Amino acid sequence: MPAPRWRSALAIALAAGAMLLTACAGESPTDPAAGPDLGRGPNAAADPLAEEVRQLAAGRGITPLARPPRVRNQLVQLGRMLAFDKVLSGNKDISCMTCHLPGLATGDARSLSIGTGASGLGAARNHPGGVFIPRNAPAAFNLHAIEPLFWDGRVFTDGSGTMHTPAGARLTPGMRAVFEFGTLSAQPMFPVLSRSEMRGDEGNELAALADDQETEIWAGLMRRLGQIQPYPQMFEAAYKGQRFEDMTFAHASNAIAGFLIAELAFNDSPWDRFLAGDDRALTPLQLAGAKNFLVARCSQCHNGPAFTDNLFHNVAVAQLGPGTGDGAGGHDDFGRMKVTGLASDRYAFRTTPLRNVELTGPWGHDGAFTDLRAFVDHYSESDVKLRTYDPSQLEPVLQGTVLANAEEILASRDPLLDGVVFTPQQVDEVTAFMLALTDPAARNIQRLTPPRLPSGLPVDGDRH
Ligand code: HEC
Ligand code: HEC
Repeated sequence: MPAPRWRSALAIALAAGAMLLTACAGESPTDPAAGPDLGRGPNAAADPLAEEVRQLAAGRGITPLARPPRVRNQLVQLGRMLAFDKVLSGNKDISCMTCHLPGLATGDARSLSIGTGASGLGAARNHPGGVFIPRNAPAAFNLHAIEPLFWDGRVFTDGSGTMHTPAGARLTPGMRAVFEFGTLSAQPMFPVLSRSEMRGDEGNELAALADDQETEIWAGLMRRLGQIQPYPQMFEAAYKGQRFEDMTFAHASNAIAGFLIAELAFNDSPWDRFLAGDDRALTPLQLAGAKNFLVARCSQCHNGPAFTDNLFHNVAVAQLGPGTGDGAGGHDDFGRMKVTGLASDRYAFRTTPLRNVELTGPWGHDGAFTDLRAFVDHYSESDVKLRTYDPSQLEPVLQGTVLANAEEILASRDPLLDGVVFTPQQVDEVTAFMLALTDPAARNIQRLTPPRLPSGLPVDGDRH
């Protein structure tokens, strides 16, 4: 196979560099075979599997992940404080990052999150005081490349550029004008409204407001922030030329989005280095897994730079937990159908991005899988797997909540899953490939946890 042109150009540039060096040092030209290890030996072009995998990936649009837009520092700093500050919750006992902990890969390591009223973090967070949120907390990685937001995509921008959210017209044109990062700027407007996540049922002025008083709840939060120094100055520094009195919670929401975008983009995994030309970045097992992933049907849904088509599919994941009010007992979760009303969307959820997936367990919209290999294995005869789903992998209090609705789920399972069967060896390979999507930098983000907050409230985090 002829070497691509850039490679020959690289070889020429290197040779020129070597000549230049020898000219200065007066040494004899180095033996090319003993030259520096550039990660691609002289035989690199002869690795047909690596080339094939690169071509298959390109064919699926699995390209390198672009860096996010630059975000001004004052906005990032404001957003960081707000994301960690419990003052945004009704009873001041939970922050955004309580459920999206840096030390737990911006999740909480629980199948389902536990909202306001509970104490403790991650595996140690207790539930008697708080309640389970119906869904798993997704990681906040690479959100500049992901849209629509939430498992059911209820925050999205349509083809004509109009943003849709559950708040409808209460998200005013003035608020929308503040949003700099698309749908992500709108996203933080919503957890603060949710009684179970942050607002609470009683005991504070925000909980006393009705659920449809979004405007008043947001205004109440800004009133709180206005009384805490130095928040007003921080807002005015982040939004030059504007007065705090004239700002709305949209300014806070946009700042949190700016923080998430600026600090949580990761695009230096072994896979990225492989795409950039380093054949040895993947182990042989991972390379074999990459090929399986690309020729099996995985990449028909997990594609693009973030490994998601940003669409919705039913991949037959068991349903558990309190549910979102759907089905006979209210404990079911119809997923995308809640947004579109279409029966064909029942049990469909957004294709999860897969970068750093190794770190973001439990997996699935309700954390039904506590082992990554088991999730990969699930795709092999997923109908059989769903019917024989083993709840013993769940934490005890959730084990009895698994719904006996396998046949209903399978009725709208994505046809792409028909006939998918993997050997155990293939499951090992694809799982190994999943690990090649981890950017090592994503393992060490505890530094994002601020030592203290303007409100003086305790910081939930794991700063090291
Ligand atoms: C009680 C735990 C909890 C708290 C507190 C919380 N979240 Fe989440 N977060 C979740 C869960 C669960 C979901 C998924 C909900 C869904 O899809 O229906 C989620 C979804 C998200 C998403 C969407 C990610 C995606 O891939 O679509 C973002 C972004 C996010 N949260 C940021 C925040 C911010 C910002 C705050 C604070 C304003 C916050 N969260 C507060 C648990 C929490
Ligand atoms: C028909 C589209 C589709 C196909 C094909 C598909 N996936 Fe998925 N994948 C999804 C959706 C949708 C989810 C979320 C489902 C849910 O939680 O209910 C998901 C979830 C996952 C998760 C869990 C990620 C997380 O963070 O929770 C992994 C891992 C995964 N898929 C890997 C694979 C692999 C490996 C293959 C090939 C064997 C594959 N997928 C094939 C659509 C698909």
